[in-house]
Amino acid sequence: MAQIYTQLEGLDETAAVSTIMHAPGEIIGPETTLGQAAAVVDRLQHSTLLVAADGKVVGTFTLHDLTSAFRSGVSPDEPVHRCMSRQVMTVQETATLAAAAKMMATHSISHLPVLNADGKLVGLVNGHDFRRLSIAAIKAQAAQVRKLEKALEDTLAALAAVLEQRDPYTAGHQKHVSMLAVSIGKELDFDSGRLHALSLAAIVHDLGKIQIPAEILTKPERLNAAEFALVRQHPMIAYNILKTIDFPWPIADIVVQHHETMDGSGYPFGLKGEQILPEARVLMVADIVESMSSDRPYRPALGIDAAIAEIIHLRGSRLDGEVVDACVRVLRRGEYSPFLLEVLPYPD
Ligand SMILES: [Fe+2]
Ligand SMILES: [Fe+2]
Repeated sequence: MAQIYTQLEGLDETAAVSTIMHAPGEIIGPETTLGQAAAVVDRLQHSTLLVAADGKVVGTFTLHDLTSAFRSGVSPDEPVHRCMSRQVMTVQETATLAAAAKMMATHSISHLPVLNADGKLVGLVNGHDFRRLSIAAIKAQAAQVRKLEKALEDTLAALAAVLEQRDPYTAGHQKHVSMLAVSIGKELDFDSGRLHALSLAAIVHDLGKIQIPAEILTKPERLNAAEFALVRQHPMIAYNILKTIDFPWPIADIVVQHHETMDGSGYPFGLKGEQILPEARVLMVADIVESMSSDRPYRPALGIDAAIAEIIHLRGSRLDGEVVDACVRVLRRGEYSPFLLEVLPYPD
């Protein structure tokens, strides 16, 4: 019983049996002789034959019926209606898949004849029919989920683009951080779900800057204390926007933690070490490297070598040692360059 119900997974159980049934195939008439029936059983290798007259199912004739007829000396020239079973479970073509599955499971039927409103045989349904359609339905659902995920990714990329239009100095910043963060994540053997979460979180990690005045974001000199206090609000602002979206991953939590540091000197919460999500630890290293290796309003790019020196300097204090080591390996292999990124298309 459980097996047939498992096969319903992904199917609309209220759909009609007619949506999955197959053609009845070879059937025999009640006047077919036992000898002819034996030949059909042998040729089809079916243990059960349907017996129909004028399109109506009148019985079933099984291998068991055949052997017991021959054992009791019935002539091969006798018609099957003398030995067939007249009790046949059938289902209407409008019956639901759930009803048909239950009938098959309860009565241990492998093939269920399907009848139309006039009682005529229009098809057969078996376990294979359930399985075949169930697999198709699950595939269709997976495609739909992928489509929704893509829409979500596009929406986040659009949000990122809105922010970057206000602040040309950070144009491309989030995309570059995302690419570097994913490279570091791969180096750390993150699984595909974690890599996906990391890539999405990185693409919007500075989203909170949308509420910071553009004059402050583009100020050509270092910020004063009051301005910096305002900029420090951006992880929390992003969190409040992103927490309203029901992501399958902790995107809002990763984003709010991207300025936390391993020694607890970061913001907004002053979290320490293991309290910080691994994705956020990767994001903070990628963020530092990207910022240092590109132009800022208040200074030109410092370059990859300076970025490597800086993260090594902060290794074990503010930054996670393993993440720094993984990032340095990625950078030394030449897999990241802000210049190259300008011409490389962003991978899907
Ligand atoms: Fe940030
Ligand atoms: Fe950033």
